[in-house]
Amino acid sequence: TPRTSPRADEGRCPFRDAASHAPDTAPNGCPVSPQAASFDPFESDYQLDPAEALRWSRDQEPVFYSPRLGYWVVSRYADVKAIFRDNRTFSPSIALEKITPTTQAAQDTLQRYGYAMNRTLVNEDEPAHMERRRALMKSFELEELAHHEPMVRRLTREYLDRLVDKGEADLVDEMLWEIPLTVALHFLGVPEEDMDTLREYSIAHTVNTWGRPSPDEQVAVAEAVGKFWQYAGQVLEKMRQDPAGHGWMKYAIRRQQELPEVVTDSYLHSMMMAGIVAAHETTAHATANMLRLLLENRAVWEDLCANPSLIPNAVEECLRLSGSVAAWRRIATTDTQVGDVAIPQGAKLLIVSASANHDGRHFENPDELDIYRDNTTDHLTFGYGSHQCMGKNLARLEMRIFLEEFTRRLPHMTLVPDQTFTFVPNTSFRGPEHLWVRWDPARNPERRDNSLREQGRDFPLGAPSRRDAEREAVVTRVIHETPDVIRLVLEDPRGRPLPRWTPGAHIDLVVGDITRKYSLCGDPDDEQRLEIAIRREEPGRGGSRLIHDTVKPQTRVRLRGPRNHFRLDETADGYLLIAGGIGITPIIAMADRLKRLGKRYAIHYAGRSRGSMPLLERLKRDHGDRLCLYPADEGRRLDLPAVVGGRGEARVYACGPARLLDALAALTRDDADAIHVEHFSASHAILDPRREQAFEVELSDSELTVPVAADQTVLQALRAVGVDVPSDCEEGLCGTCEVAVMAGEVDHRDKVLSADERAASRRMMTCCSRAKRGKLVLGL
Ligand code: HEM
Repeated sequence: TPRTSPRADEGRCPFRDAASHAPDTAPNGCPVSPQAASFDPFESDYQLDPAEALRWSRDQEPVFYSPRLGYWVVSRYADVKAIFRDNRTFSPSIALEKITPTTQAAQDTLQRYGYAMNRTLVNEDEPAHMERRRALMKSFELEELAHHEPMVRRLTREYLDRLVDKGEADLVDEMLWEIPLTVALHFLGVPEEDMDTLREYSIAHTVNTWGRPSPDEQVAVAEAVGKFWQYAGQVLEKMRQDPAGHGWMKYAIRRQQELPEVVTDSYLHSMMMAGIVAAHETTAHATANMLRLLLENRAVWEDLCANPSLIPNAVEECLRLSGSVAAWRRIATTDTQVGDVAIPQGAKLLIVSASANHDGRHFENPDELDIYRDNTTDHLTFGYGSHQCMGKNLARLEMRIFLEEFTRRLPHMTLVPDQTFTFVPNTSFRGPEHLWVRWDPARNPERRDNSLREQGRDFPLGAPSRRDAEREAVVTRVIHETPDVIRLVLEDPRGRPLPRWTPGAHIDLVVGDITRKYSLCGDPDDEQRLEIAIRREEPGRGGSRLIHDTVKPQTRVRLRGPRNHFRLDETADGYLLIAGGIGITPIIAMADRLKRLGKRYAIHYAGRSRGSMPLLERLKRDHGDRLCLYPADEGRRLDLPAVVGGRGEARVYACGPARLLDALAALTRDDADAIHVEHFSASHAILDPRREQAFEVELSDSELTVPVAADQTVLQALRAVGVDVPSDCEEGLCGTCEVAVMAGEVDHRDKVLSADERAASRRMMTCCSRAKRGKLVLGL
């Protein structure tokens, strides 16, 4: 049978004529492929591993119609994200639709209780959704979430106290299921005395929406859900008597007084129930998935025990690799396309975030658990865009505390071998029903040191920063290149492989309290070692002096990255490589690569004297015929206007002191696109509120308007409202915090964008750049 991927040119199915003869036909007229026909998300291979079950789809048929489900299934990262982003074409109204249709008897039961669950947030269309989301956002801001942290810590400790001496436990039953539910009730502001009853009912509600109850079970479930509905109403009434204090529902009641038509009674009642589910099961499953994954990867678990600062990034990587929401749903409001497949109006879509999160088109080594991964927060487990999970930072907070307590108090815990993991069959929520672990209580570290129980560490709230993901390395060689330049060879202390990199990439070297960026200058394909060269900067900030004075063979250091913001475009024919002094480090890696590719290139390398120019011997050996040297003490000066003037079509890559790069920028103003430079320092301006203006940024994807105060960066303002933008140097050097600019005039203050890019103003660095005047609209 030929593969019948419905790749439609201009949305037309190429197999339309054949379709009438096909056994199964999708609503767009395309025949259904055998794999699409047999896809069933209630079967065990999808339950066990949704990403693996859809590998064939990611590779061959990224958008397919599933006749068994009656849904279009979407499996690639870019498509899933694009659907999340466009919530007008792809309405979320079916997000909570019952997967198993309710029997008449169950419906009658619900009616007896006056059950009237309405749309909430997650399944509400615009403009109602955004009005509500904005009105109710405050409880999710980081400052508010901080009030819940001591409660999560206390609960986790208490539950752990109960099992720490047992030696074996089912973590789901004994801890992970209950804590997130209790946290959810606290978050909503439910009075203590009502918690037990609501806890019981909320479980029935979950089965009602997502599960596959039999007809008999449905009536029993409906009874519980009906009672839940009534009880939730009573608790809400009680809260109305005194809506002061923290708690999302209390806040919503207060907001209702100001905005009665936005925060309606029906909405409050529905949200009381839906809120518990949104916060509870998602987090309980995510934690169980995370602990399982980490215990299955013992070396990673041990890294976390040894270095808890890795926990925030590890949590995120677990959400990517084994999240608790595997798929979400949307319905097409008009005839449209996903990728190049025609999707008719009214089509239901199952967008499989678990598959998207394993897409090698977006994530390097997608199936590897790499807790040092620097774009792990791009995962789609929390959705994306205007409906993106409002509670993500509460979930992160809980997961981090769980992991921190377990790694500290039970580092020797292991999975009970050969256990079979089972999952409640459903399309979306995914987590094992049981998670058996064991350990030897005699080895509990707190038996030796009682104070250990109290030694928990807190993490900053919000998305992890790259600072949270540092790799240990050991310096295996220190080579004196010149009197003031040392070259360091770095290896993993346990001999594990290090990541590969591309020319122009750098790492952040962390020694003691200082962090400095250094370009990689060794062999990009060598997985055993990384090489950097460091010049002693006498007038500098002291970092290089400290490294020179203290780093010896066998010194332990930490590093972040590699990352590449100085990428070599390999498509050009000719290259002009210009380096001043220590700026040779990225340039030599580029030269090596260009040589291997057989490209035309020339290296112009300037310095004070031959003796002060690092990597000279290797350059002469490997690139002798392409090398022009300019040692100033020999009277040879780099004539930049002549060299650059004669470049023809060649692309220019330059790295060196600011003087050199400024001169280059002045010479190439008209052809800024062909020039690529790497700066190693920026004037680190601290915001002076007397000189800065406050302004607003409007976020087009999430439909939020965020005020940026005069003493605040755009990045800080975005973080304060829970919007994740990765960042790194926060000095306008590294390009990590770049966002798309849709409208508005930007006052660019970074060193990353070229003159042309600044003029076009289609992107900006949020750590330093601001609005020139008025408002900025950002693609977030
Ligand atoms: C929405 C996942 C925890 C509250 C969502 C969505 C997903 C999701 C996939 C829909 C996103 C979209 O349509 O773009 C998760 C996961 C969690 C988690 C994986 C845990 C690991 C929480 C918690 C809370 C919460 C703890 C509350 C305290 C919400 C709310 C929405 C939502 C209110 C609706 C947002 C809107 O439609 O504007 N969540 N969630 N979630 N989540 Fe979560």
